[in-house]
Amino acid sequence: MIPLVKVGMPDRDRLMPALEEVLYSGMIGEGESVYRFETDFSNMFHLKNGLAFSSGTGALHAALHLAGVCDGGDVISTSMTAEPTNLAILHAGGTPVFADVDINSGNISVESVAEKISSKTKAIVVVHYAGIPVRMHDLMALAEAHQIPVIEDCAHALGAKYAGQGVGALGDYAIFSFQAIKHMTTVDGGFLVVKDTSQLQDAKRFRWFGLEKGVAREQVNITDAGYKYNMNNVTATIGLMQLDVIQQRINAHKENGRFFDREIANIQGLSVPVFDVDAEPSYWLYTVLSEDSDKVEQALKDIGVMASKLHRPNHLHSVFECYAGPLPNLNEYYQRMIHIPCGWWLTKEKREQIVDVLSNVCTAR
Ligand SMILES: Cc1ncc(COP(=O)(O)O)c(C=O)c1O
Repeated sequence: MIPLVKVGMPDRDRLMPALEEVLYSGMIGEGESVYRFETDFSNMFHLKNGLAFSSGTGALHAALHLAGVCDGGDVISTSMTAEPTNLAILHAGGTPVFADVDINSGNISVESVAEKISSKTKAIVVVHYAGIPVRMHDLMALAEAHQIPVIEDCAHALGAKYAGQGVGALGDYAIFSFQAIKHMTTVDGGFLVVKDTSQLQDAKRFRWFGLEKGVAREQVNITDAGYKYNMNNVTATIGLMQLDVIQQRINAHKENGRFFDREIANIQGLSVPVFDVDAEPSYWLYTVLSEDSDKVEQALKDIGVMASKLHRPNHLHSVFECYAGPLPNLNEYYQRMIHIPCGWWLTKEKREQIVDVLSNVCTAR
């Protein structure tokens, strides 16, 4: 079966000696490897003020806290995402307010965000869903007009760009996830980007119990309870090795995604996501839109290709039920969408076979 998502590790020959070295170095906690990873990852993706975390969820919690959500208040977000996006809002003490999505891309709709803004809005969280960048110029203009901080959830979108700028560098805060199946994994891990340099120290304290690194333990003073969200030298070592291969992998996702954009758009009865001309997706997943997504899923299964909706709109979970309002576009998008594999593991031959099968499914209807 060709999987929808796949773990990508660096070559064993390079990774294992590096891991052995760090494991027996006597310094496996947060240290030099973590700080080197922060610098190298930031340089590669043109990010400023980057901090490594133990997970994307921890990084999101930190971003929400730094945006002022710890005091309560509404956070405008999307339900069309993985659950951690909105669970982190609850962790921070905020109230999720679900905006509807753009029916053609599945991304949060800027127009719907505009309708949801109120005096209680503390932050806006946007998810570049499946690797497609949100309409960031319009969104940022709206947020700036209301002086509301924007958090980019880039967990699906490493390497995606908007108007030539990498995602993660556009909002007031951004997070990435290095969880097992993302473009790049450190087994588990995350990354926080903070636009305002003056908040970096707060972010570091939040990441590590509220303690200040470098101050003697007998003298250090905790003023706010922080968390245990730091990355360690072992996972950072995996991250450093991943940086040698990640551009190649992202390029393969993009190449496959553009191929599907061209080919599937020509198939009658199917649609492909429509996104802003300024958006350059990194296609973590490819999304096909069909009136019969079950049939598409079955036809691909028959040729050994996994397809799935993958996520459950978050407002359908009991924990978010009380925040759910009408989301007509999301309901329609979710009914029609199906994700198909698009990553570095997909061969040219297999992607052509996928297109052939999709053409036949539609002709046979
Ligand atoms: C959109 C989105 N946001 C946040 C996260 C949380 O990342 P992590 O699993 O690293 O905590 C994930 C991954 O599960 C995700 O897909």
